[in-house]
Amino acid sequence: MTAVALPSSDRPVLFDAAHSAAPLVDAILHYRGLETGALHVPGHAGGRTVGSGLRALLGNTFLASDVWLTPADATNARREAEALAAAAWGADTALFLLDGSSGGNRAVHLAQPSQHVVVARDSHTSTLAGLVLSGATPHWVTPRLDEGGFGISLGIDPAALDETLTGLSAQGHRAGLVSMVSPGYAGACSDVRALADVAHRHGTPLMVDEAWGAHLPFHPDLPAHAISVGADVAVTSAHKMLAAPSGAAIIFTKGDRFDADRISRVVQMTQTTSPLLPVLASIDDARRTMVSRGRGLLDRTLELVASARRRLAAIPGVRVAEAEDLGVPAERFDPLRLVISVAGLGLTGLEIEKLLRTPGPGLGTSGLLHPAVAVEGADESNLFVAITTGTSPDVVDALVTALRTLSCRPRRLLRPAWDGRLVEALLAPRTQVCTPREAHFAATETVPLAQSVGRTSAEPITPYPPGVPAVMPGECLDGDAVAALTRAVASGMHIHGSADPTLATVCVLRD
Ligand SMILES: Cc1ncc(COP(=O)(O)O)c(C=O)c1O
Repeated sequence: MTAVALPSSDRPVLFDAAHSAAPLVDAILHYRGLETGALHVPGHAGGRTVGSGLRALLGNTFLASDVWLTPADATNARREAEALAAAAWGADTALFLLDGSSGGNRAVHLAQPSQHVVVARDSHTSTLAGLVLSGATPHWVTPRLDEGGFGISLGIDPAALDETLTGLSAQGHRAGLVSMVSPGYAGACSDVRALADVAHRHGTPLMVDEAWGAHLPFHPDLPAHAISVGADVAVTSAHKMLAAPSGAAIIFTKGDRFDADRISRVVQMTQTTSPLLPVLASIDDARRTMVSRGRGLLDRTLELVASARRRLAAIPGVRVAEAEDLGVPAERFDPLRLVISVAGLGLTGLEIEKLLRTPGPGLGTSGLLHPAVAVEGADESNLFVAITTGTSPDVVDALVTALRTLSCRPRRLLRPAWDGRLVEALLAPRTQVCTPREAHFAATETVPLAQSVGRTSAEPITPYPPGVPAVMPGECLDGDAVAALTRAVASGMHIHGSADPTLATVCVLRD
């Protein structure tokens, strides 16, 4: 391969003629080009008998691409595509996934060999699932919150990680894995280089859940991606910040601190043996697109988001989180994730999200017709927006116009601004009574949330966004946790993981 490095040495992306190929895309096109008669599953046989509803949703082309290649053809094409992805991200290995970064997080945890793992407290609920699967004891590191009152996690600090690892070795344990998230839900990236140094000094590999960072290697103005600054394993969702359908994700490994073959075995054990090939092929295609023209696409996207930030920040009652407000260096901030505080508009973020999704004269008393706009998420005071290479400038215009309209509502409708302490309360450390796996398999009973103080949770209780469990199975439901969860439900946050999503009741370990 002729390697041409990108401008920054942190970005070992290789440009090569090989990257103009997309082996998985080509394998499916080849099958279709032969007009092969299908005597195999999937049973729709190229879409012949699907109902009109599914055809309207997916179209003939998608259905005709859901084919069954010979195992050898499928494996060879997949391996070639994964090798190209590994080269594009500067990794040693890449594994394509159908079940998102969620599947990647579970697989990496199930592949780690130790009883002890160090886990950032702002980890996604899928990491918790990994802990239930592996049975490991988590040692939590509490993340730092932003300095601007947005209520946003900035990830973990190297000193806090060092302290946790040092404490563990003082007890005679070595952690089998450090598991953390970067970028966080607001686009703030941790100092992965320093964190990797700390983890490695303690003889522990570092895994970064980089679900939101698949685009990072492809533009010099974006933060460095985890594999380029020392992570041993990174998990990323191609479907989030790249042009791939939901579920498409990748696990990367670099170096020999983590056994890539064991991860591969776990992925084979836990994923379907009947992969939806167009999803895997979409990762192949996204890699080709980003290597060949990602820089130009991201140039335009960065311009779009810069203009959106300027226009939104000029709206009375609206604040847009910038790196300096959050307290992160600009080079560790992904501007494509927009956190828009709407606390000054007199409605919660969740209420505004609902108004934006309802087209027509929905914006308060304005009577203004507006198109439906769907944001990525919302909480009590913020809207969370992802701007990607696929975002249309018209949709950004619609968001700006809608928020301008809302800012003209009568002042008397304003409510006191939100204080941002809910996130802090939700992320607070809790007493761990047993491991998540022990709690998962223990005898349980259901009690009203209000009467659960002092009991041990049997289930993860995860307010969305951003999908970080406030209480893990095996943790004590203390008074602060119950109060924070009660407030999260009252503010309209969606609760994931618990059997009762209204949280009128919770599932706890039997006394
Ligand atoms: C930090 C983080 N990790 C993992 C995931 C899960 O990713 P996926 O939807 O690809 O399974 C999410 C989803 O939002 C996330 O925010």
